[in-house]
Amino acid sequence: MERTYIKDLNLKVGQEVSINGWVDIRRDQGKLIFLDFRDVTGKVQGVILPNATAAHEVGFTLRPEWVVCVKGKVNPRPPKNVQKDKQNGEIELEILEIKVLNEATTPPIDIRGDGKEINEEVRLKYRYQDLRRPRLQKNIINRHKVMLHVRNALAKEGFTEIETPLLSATTPEGSRDYIVPSRLERGSFYSLPQSPQQYKQLLMSSGFEKYFQFARCMRDEDSRGDRQPEFTQMDMEMSFVERKDVMAINEKILIDLVTTLYPNKKIQQIPFPVMSYKEAMEKYGVDKPDIRTDKNDPDLLAFLWVIDWPFFEKDPDTKGWTFTHNPFSSPTPEFMDDLLNQKNIENIFTTQYDIVLNGSEIGGGSIRNHNPEALKAVFKVMGYSEERIEKNFGHMLNALGSGTPPHGGIAWGFDRLMTFLEVEPNIREVIAFPKNGEGRDPMMGAPGKVMDKQLKELGIEIVEEK
Ligand code: AMO
Repeated sequence: MERTYIKDLNLKVGQEVSINGWVDIRRDQGKLIFLDFRDVTGKVQGVILPNATAAHEVGFTLRPEWVVCVKGKVNPRPPKNVQKDKQNGEIELEILEIKVLNEATTPPIDIRGDGKEINEEVRLKYRYQDLRRPRLQKNIINRHKVMLHVRNALAKEGFTEIETPLLSATTPEGSRDYIVPSRLERGSFYSLPQSPQQYKQLLMSSGFEKYFQFARCMRDEDSRGDRQPEFTQMDMEMSFVERKDVMAINEKILIDLVTTLYPNKKIQQIPFPVMSYKEAMEKYGVDKPDIRTDKNDPDLLAFLWVIDWPFFEKDPDTKGWTFTHNPFSSPTPEFMDDLLNQKNIENIFTTQYDIVLNGSEIGGGSIRNHNPEALKAVFKVMGYSEERIEKNFGHMLNALGSGTPPHGGIAWGFDRLMTFLEVEPNIREVIAFPKNGEGRDPMMGAPGKVMDKQLKELGIEIVEEK
């Protein structure tokens, strides 16, 4: 018999059906056995009546999380047992036959509640079971829906999705790189990308004009509630645009996705308000203000653009100038001469725009320097030698000088956006397999030791810390 998904059972009242799924819970009531079953589409209550002898025999052996194929008849519930607000609350599956597809060991964690009371280390160790809880199923499935929506919206706007390498060279994104040793070139290392920044600019040079990618980014920094060593950006770049164009298309897509997929949520202000960095600091004392008018309402989304950021700041360690956001950004047009002449440094504004949601930075981008001299000037302000500029950024300067259009883009912190849409306290709840606070994966045991043979091949010797 063809499989029926649990969400469709209420369409089959009076019919015999076959379902596949997990035993959620078993309750024995005298001669009756009640069993709740679960599949990816939801839950249903089943009952084994005393006359179903064969099913009864199997039914008594069933334990939570066993995987079964169940044949049964969909019956309307007696009126007094109807639960209108519950999925399948008006029906009950009269179980006729049960086939056990796989047994399950006793679950180490309770997966029926929302799980927030359970030690997170244990949840992550048994993540494959933790992910069975309805809250996480919902988060991960909705994450897919948001991704699909954004992907389709961008495709409709003429964007091309292009993948870029993970094995790459270091790029200055303000954090520490994860590095990967090369076997063929002993003593040399790839860097895992902190973002696809350079590649997406090079794609503009290549003439793709509108690029996007759901890009995995790796940054060796301490984990926090809104920070993972490995996270996902919705990364985009566009040619022949100004700041207002990139902001407008992102705003349009964000509004469209909230109104389509989260109709219960209210966007506080449309068009999104725009605030300068100076105003944010003066009025709120932070560069990502939470401008919600009602902070108790989890369904209120207060988007805000923050613009006119200082381009450079003093590095507290070296005492020299460093970039505040992104060295590839262009200054706002009125400061281009100052940058080229390397004067008035402390007052130069960057074209950077950050998108803030309920007090969290969920994205940021800028218009880039498409003139190689301007990019070179940025590195000079930061005190880089000609030699270092050529070595690290020669390819970028050559590309910019090879006929690169004016361009700009943005990257959303996709995990952060999802925490607000799903009203979760941290990004680990919207990532299928996150790392813990120490950057470890307790399930896979990563990071872990490798075999001596592998180290030898790579020419690596481990020096124990004294
Ligand atoms: P930026 O470094 O601001 O910009 O990153 C973009 C957005 O990514 C999110 N984010 C993170 N999310 C989770 N864990 C992390 N460790 C983490 N780090 C950053 C934030 C942030 O706003 N290449 C530029 C983008 C551009 O200019 O187009 C970039 O990476 O929400």
